[in-house]
Amino acid sequence: MGGQISVRGVTHVYTNRYTRETVLALEDISFEVEQGEFVCIIGPSGCGKSTLLYLIAGLMRPSMGEILVDGRPVTGPGPDRGMVFQEFAILPWRTVWRNISHGLEIQGVPKEKRDEIVRHYIRLIGLEGFENKYPYELSGGMKQRVALARTLACNPKVVLMDEPFAALDVQTRITLRTELLKISLQLSNTILFVTHSVDEAALLGDRVIVLTRRPGRVKEIVRNPIPRAARDEHTMENPAFIEYRNHLFYSVRSEVQVAEHEALVRG
Ligand SMILES: Nc1ncnc2c1ncn2[C@@H]1O[C@H](COP(=O)(O)OP(=O)(O)OP(=O)(O)O)[C@@H](O)[C@H]1O
Ligand SMILES: [Mg+2]
Repeated sequence: MGGQISVRGVTHVYTNRYTRETVLALEDISFEVEQGEFVCIIGPSGCGKSTLLYLIAGLMRPSMGEILVDGRPVTGPGPDRGMVFQEFAILPWRTVWRNISHGLEIQGVPKEKRDEIVRHYIRLIGLEGFENKYPYELSGGMKQRVALARTLACNPKVVLMDEPFAALDVQTRITLRTELLKISLQLSNTILFVTHSVDEAALLGDRVIVLTRRPGRVKEIVRNPIPRAARDEHTMENPAFIEYRNHLFYSVRSEVQVAEHEALVRG
């Protein structure tokens, strides 16, 4: 179905439009993501993770380098890439059903086909019985399930997720991450998932890209020792997984510590 991503030598500089001050957010980022792969991105706060996702989404253009999806340069947003944000990106005046069908309506999918797709995703995210509820009647976890279904319903080749579970309490977050892992086994979409949580990245990602402190560069790309289909909540107890998770933890931790030290020296 496609969804192969190539990021080649991407550097991004933000320029303040009034003061002309610049911030180098990303520097010379290169990596490849295979179609259907689930890749997580972790790194210290402010290292450019969201920036990288926005660039791939086509919401901004990189200062240098290029991004290709299935060999075609990204020049703007497109239906081949769908995004799920940290804040609930659902429409408060539409029911669960009509939120999930929204993108399909925009695409002009006929009602019968639309209903079939919406029904499928309602089942996938376990919200049967809530079809006619409005967002204010849902818990945070349910709202984020709807946001996910809304994006998946349009079947983008690439799903870009920026801290989608960050606003949830710890237990709900663990539930949703396990659900997403299960759901992903039924999907062929490529998933790029940004998170602060090392545990989340370690569990979800087939590979994890670790970024350095700002300006974000690729520090390392590590492959999960446990295949996706064999991962579940109990994977946390697997010694090979623990070693992998700890490796990721210290990889990010050392970046944060260097950044803190540098800030201290600068005063
Ligand atoms: N619109 C903007 N204008 C200027 N600087 C920006 C802008 N957006 C982000 N930045 C800066 O670029 C850097 C990277 O920001 P970004 O939001 O991509 O980081 P992040 O890794 O997603 O951080 P977090 O983990 O806290 O979400 C930061 O130093 C930030 O201050
Ligand atoms: Mg961010």
